[in-house]
Parts: sequence; structure tokens; C-alpha cells
Amino acid sequence: MNEDTSSEVASHAYSHPAPNYDPTLINVGKGRPGGELLRRYWQPFALAGEATNVPRKIRLLGEDLILFRPGNGVAGLLYPRCMHRGTNLFFGRVEDDGIRCCYHGWKYDVVGRCLDQPAEPGGGRQRARVRQPWYPVVERYGAIWAYMGPPDKQPVFPRFSIFENMTADEEVLSYYLTRNGELAPWPEDFCFFALYENALDTHHVPILHTMISGPQFSGNSSAGRQSVNFPKVQWKSTENGVVAIAERKLPDGSRHISYSEALMPNLISLAPFFTKNGPGNELFWVVPWDDDNHTVLMMKRQKKGTPAPDNRKIFTFGPDGKYWSELTPEEHQRYPGDYEAEASMGKHVMHSEEHLVTSDFGVALLRRRFREQAKVVADGGDPVGVSFDPNDIFKINSAAVTLAPEGVSA
Ligand code: FES
Ligand SMILES: [Fe+2]
Repeated sequence: MNEDTSSEVASHAYSHPAPNYDPTLINVGKGRPGGELLRRYWQPFALAGEATNVPRKIRLLGEDLILFRPGNGVAGLLYPRCMHRGTNLFFGRVEDDGIRCCYHGWKYDVVGRCLDQPAEPGGGRQRARVRQPWYPVVERYGAIWAYMGPPDKQPVFPRFSIFENMTADEEVLSYYLTRNGELAPWPEDFCFFALYENALDTHHVPILHTMISGPQFSGNSSAGRQSVNFPKVQWKSTENGVVAIAERKLPDGSRHISYSEALMPNLISLAPFFTKNGPGNELFWVVPWDDDNHTVLMMKRQKKGTPAPDNRKIFTFGPDGKYWSELTPEEHQRYPGDYEAEASMGKHVMHSEEHLVTSDFGVALLRRRFREQAKVVADGGDPVGVSFDPNDIFKINSAAVTLAPEGVSA
């Protein structure tokens, strides 16, 4: 058999082994290396307005939980099965100081203490022996955050560098990137890491979003500068993740340089290409519901009272400027976006079948950092960016600058 024939036989689909993946980059559950890394950080998982007196089901890091807001205003996040006999607190009644299970009326506060057992003598003299499992919750920036890691490792709530020194007329607005089918279904039905690593996949912007599907950022001219041509890219490790430094020549000859960063363990801060030059002003939290689903929760620093951006003006599909959910099956093929590119890999990225090349360096570096940090946690250490000192700042390097054409002073 000559060499050509043997390689043809080896590459025949019949000989192709089943694909598989690195579980550290996929499995978010308790006890899994990636899941334990994710649990060491405060995780935003809902908008403040989603905690009400109607209990809400939450899926987060592979766990089912119940979010509610008693009359006293402090939100709680509890394990769903009542510690009496297991009725789901989703059907509980929210009262001034807690949530009351619908079956026999046991009432729990936001830290799981049992306040009442109405069918027991004296309202349950032994009720202090019962505690409903709970997670600590913080409300900040219009979002609700949970710490789901070991209690003795609970860090201080982080101070993000791009949200420091806000003026009196500024705020941080939280919203979902695509809650109503603008760019993808909700939740997005594949592993969180496929979206997370997309932040460093700089070359897909001029290909997928321009060459293949037409200019998908065309509704916004400053965003369009990301798509004009192939960038020169360098990826570098930073304090808390990996930054992509991309330089493009704009049609007027000026040079545009963007710094987009993926930060441990599921955070993205893109260059501010939807606004102006300067430091980044947005966080993208890729919130894993479980191994197979996630949502993207956005936090944007802006002038107080500014509404959430209208995605129809920023990112559109096809010549008619449609939302993702308005596309016909054929239009999904003709004008694919990030969702088609990422979700079509399957629920999980199949690492065994990939052929990483030079333009994938950022993706490979991010995976390496994530695996290293998961190992730090598994070995009993504290991962990067987690702090026990309220003065520490979580450093973020996202930014955009435009330099005058060479030889012209700005
Ligand atoms: S099952 Fe909840 S009070 Fe009985
Ligand atoms: Fe994209």
C-alpha cells in the first residue's frame, strides 16, 4: 500500500473515532475541577427585578435553586426541596420574613432558618434543628449574585477596575444580551466555554460577521471598524485572564487598536467597539446553568437612566436587518451568526477533533489558564482575582484606541 492509499484509509470516516472533550472545560457541577473553580467567585445569575414575591426557579452551575424576595426586601436563594418532606418551595408562599412551604407551612428565612412549623406544638419547639440549605446572595449593579463555593473560602465582593470611580450621574446597568431571540435562544443551549473563548477568537469577526454573513455590525459605524479587515493580533496572559490586542487599519488610514479580554473564570470584557475609544465599559458574564446551557448577563457602565441598547440597531442578520428569531431555516444558513457557529459544534466542544492553528493561540491560552486555575483550586489554593481584602481591585484591561495615520499628527 503506498502512502497516499494508507492516509486515505486512515481518514476514511469508517475509521474515525468517537469525539470526546476535556471535562475541565465543560463540567460545571459541584466536585468537578471546572465547577469548583467557578464556585470560588461571586456569580451573577439574575436581574434584581427577577427576585419577587413569586418564587422563581434558578438553574446555576448544575444546581436547581429557588429565588425569592420576602417583604423585608432581602433576596434569598434556597435549595428547592423542603427539609420537612420535600415539597418544592417553588410553590411556597413568600411572606414578610421568608418563604412558607405550601404543604405543611414550614417557613424559612433567606439563610434557611426554620421560623415556624404551624402543625407542631408551640410552632415547632425543635425547629432550630432544621435548616434549609441556602447560598449567600449579594445585590449589586442591578443583578443578583451568589457565592456557591466552600463557606470558609468566601471572598469579598469584587471591585472591578472598569467600574471604579463612578461619577454621580453614572450607573451600571445589568441586562441579558439576548432575552427575546435577538441573537440566539434563551438560554443558549450549549456549553458556556464555547461562548467564553469566542472573546479571543478575533479572526472570526471579519470572516463570520462580514465575509460570510454580510456586515452584521453595519448598523453601528463605530462597531463596523471591527470588521473592516484582518487584524494583526497578539494574545497575552494578564493578571486575571488573557487579552487579545488587535490592530486594524481603518479606511481613512488611521490605526485602530482594541484590547478584548477573557477573565477568570467566565467573564468577558470586550473593547468598547459599540461606543467610543477609551477603557472598556462592559462586562459579559457567561452564566452556566449547567454543562449544556448558559445565558449572557451584561453589565454596562453608562450615564444614569440610559435604556439597555437596542440590539436591532447594533447587530442584524441578512439584508432585511432581522432578529435571529425572525430568520427562516434557510436564512440561518445564509446569514449565520455566533449562535450557529458555536451551537452547531454540539452541546460540548469536542476537543479531540480540533486542529488548533496559529490564529487559535488565544483560545488555547485561555484554556490553559482555566485548567491551571482549576488545578490551583484542586490543590487547595486560591485562584487569580479572588480576594479576601476589600481594598483589592480586579484588574480589567479592555480598551480601544485609534491612532492617527503614520506621519500625521493627531
Ligand atoms: S413538605 Fe414542606 S412543610 Fe411539609
Ligand atoms: Fe462573534
